[in-house]
Amino acid sequence: MGKRQPDDSRATRLGRARGSTVEAVVRAVVVRRESGRLGVLAADGVRAIGVSNFLQDHLDTLLAETTTVPAVNQFELHPTFQQAALSAKTRAHGIAVEAYSPLGRGTDLNAEAVTTLAQTHGATPAQIVLGWHLGVGNIVIPKSVNAHRLRENLAASEVTLSQDELDAITALESGVPIAPDPAEAAFTQMYSSG
Ligand SMILES: NC(=O)c1ccc[n+]([C@@H]2O[C@H](COP(=O)([O-])OP(=O)(O)OC[C@H]3O[C@@H](n4cnc5c(N)ncnc54)[C@H](OP(=O)(O)O)[C@@H]3O)[C@@H](O)[C@H]2O)c1
Repeated sequence: MGKRQPDDSRATRLGRARGSTVEAVVRAVVVRRESGRLGVLAADGVRAIGVSNFLQDHLDTLLAETTTVPAVNQFELHPTFQQAALSAKTRAHGIAVEAYSPLGRGTDLNAEAVTTLAQTHGATPAQIVLGWHLGVGNIVIPKSVNAHRLRENLAASEVTLSQDELDAITALESGVPIAPDPAEAAFTQMYSSG
């Protein structure tokens, strides 16, 4: 299977890909604004909203068409697929970046830079990857069904990487995603792969 395009080219395809769930969500928010129903959020006591899989054009539409600024944008982000431009755009609007599949579903844990730093710090590869996320300012939601790994992942907050070490992990970018393209996928496709 050939490599998929990195995120920057994804955004340019949004104009042609109008059938995805994220596109539908953006349109629904705009419709709520046009019908005056966005105010219902505040009236119901909702203080903040989060979005997921919003690419750059989705954020542009939301912010141009409504006064709703999400508190957080959750999207695929791990050392080999960092979506740097989307992260920068998200942060520039004061929106927190939340990484899903933060371990690359385990596939990023075998990279040499990760295993070398794990030895240096007396940490596990997962803790190094999570330490990298925290070091560059990402919120992380690693998934594990294993209690030992849950504790291990929580303890990653004690791992502090130097700038050079952060850069060594950042250099693992390959532009190859795991999840389907949010510009084209339906909701069920985004989660069925998780
Ligand atoms: N918004 C979306 O569209 C979207 C899409 C995908 C995922 N998500 C969310 O993102 C979260 C995590 O993503 P994900 O499950 O795709 O990927 P992930 O957290 O990067 O990786 C999970 C995999 O890594 C393993 N793992 C966890 N901790 C480990 C450790 N310390 N050492 C070694 N292996 C470890 C897990 O195995 P074990 O369970 O066997 O430990 C599992 O196979 C989930 O809560 C999910 O709901 C959101």
